Amino acid sequence: MNHTTTLALTAAALAALLPLSCAAQAAMPAAPAAGPTAAHAVLQPAAPGVGAGEVTFEAMGDGVMVHVVVAGLAPGSKHGFHVHDKGVCTAPDFTSAGGHFNPSNHPHGGPEAERHAGDMPNLVADDKGSVDLRVMLHGTELGGAMGVIGHAVVLHAGEDDYKTQPTGNSGARLACGVITP
Ligand code: CU
Ligand code: ZN
Repeated sequence: MNHTTTLALTAAALAALLPLSCAAQAAMPAAPAAGPTAAHAVLQPAAPGVGAGEVTFEAMGDGVMVHVVVAGLAPGSKHGFHVHDKGVCTAPDFTSAGGHFNPSNHPHGGPEAERHAGDMPNLVADDKGSVDLRVMLHGTELGGAMGVIGHAVVLHAGEDDYKTQPTGNSGARLACGVITP
């Protein structure tokens, strides 16, 4: 005689717990973070018209091409010109912009020397008191922690001697402009 074993299986036990179709949508691939290719600043003078101007920055090669247009200066005068650390041009004397932009902790210097990232050549006014200068800043960047965006350009009353630390001793601040993309 064979013994027959009957196994009772409940329907419930058989209900397959199939996950509902996950409605997960394929995540959109993140666009590559393209860095800024240009930036600009409007130089706002402390005294009306004295050193008013505009500065544009364009990514180029291993650095940034800067185009500076300024008016209202004494003919033939020379003026220190730098990117300063803080993008704040509110104080009447523009001390709000802080010291020179110097993310790589270099000494102050001229175009041919080791320099702050924010150091630029002196601006020299023409016989009408205007400046229209293009200068290439090798190694300078636009965006990111090492970039000039978010900082400020400052035009000084006097000439930068490229030596005095950490300012170049170029005197009072005539005009200031925050650098924006
Ligand atoms: Cu300066
Ligand atoms: Zn400097």
